[in-house]
Amino acid sequence: MTEDVETWEKENGVKFLRKVGLRPGQIVLDFGCGVGHYTVPVALTVGSKGTVYAVDKGQQALNELQQKARANNLKNVKIIKTSGQKTLDFESESIEVVLFYDVLHYLGKCDRKRLYQEAQRVLKQDGLLSVYPKHTLEDGPIQEFRRLSLSDVKQEIEGSNFVFERKHCGAISHDDGLNQGCVLNFRKNEDHNCI
Ligand SMILES: C[S@@+](CC[C@H](N)C(=O)[O-])C[C@H]1O[C@@H](n2cnc3c(N)ncnc32)[C@H](O)[C@@H]1O
Repeated sequence: MTEDVETWEKENGVKFLRKVGLRPGQIVLDFGCGVGHYTVPVALTVGSKGTVYAVDKGQQALNELQQKARANNLKNVKIIKTSGQKTLDFESESIEVVLFYDVLHYLGKCDRKRLYQEAQRVLKQDGLLSVYPKHTLEDGPIQEFRRLSLSDVKQEIEGSNFVFERKHCGAISHDDGLNQGCVLNFRKNEDHNCI
């Protein structure tokens, strides 16, 4: 792939996230944002009327993101440093899109479950949970995903009351380059209180 990741963040990354379903004016939570390879295109996609909360436990990565946001005059990026807790410090039903991109493999099964529950809580009705499950069995398995297939990850998210909507594939950011990857979109299951 010839395109560099900085160009991707500002051009094809924006196009990709529009296909994923992000829209101007939305409030987005980018959990485990790192240096912001997705935060930047999210900020450009949601625009000045939207907000992206960029959450990470790594101060160095967040410093880099801060510089990048300043250099690109992205005033809608709100950076939040955590201690790595799996609770999300946001009001219930306050967020339109939650991103778990290339981060779930850091977390054990119980922590992932806690995080899915938190995503359920903070997402508005009909909110979107978009997940890039990198490092599953099919795609360079490591850490907590070393024995999990993509289908296992999809099933565990569905088991936390999300409904799988669709998959979006393309040339997307991974670490400091681009690779072919797929993100999975889920919606909050509106029926879970109607038993
Ligand atoms: C591989 S990077 C992915 C960064 C970004 N999402 C991307 O796709 O380019 C994973 C990031 O998740 C962060 N992370 C892992 N566990 C976390 C936790 N419990 N709370 C907050 N951030 C976490 C790491 O610090 C790291 O910056």
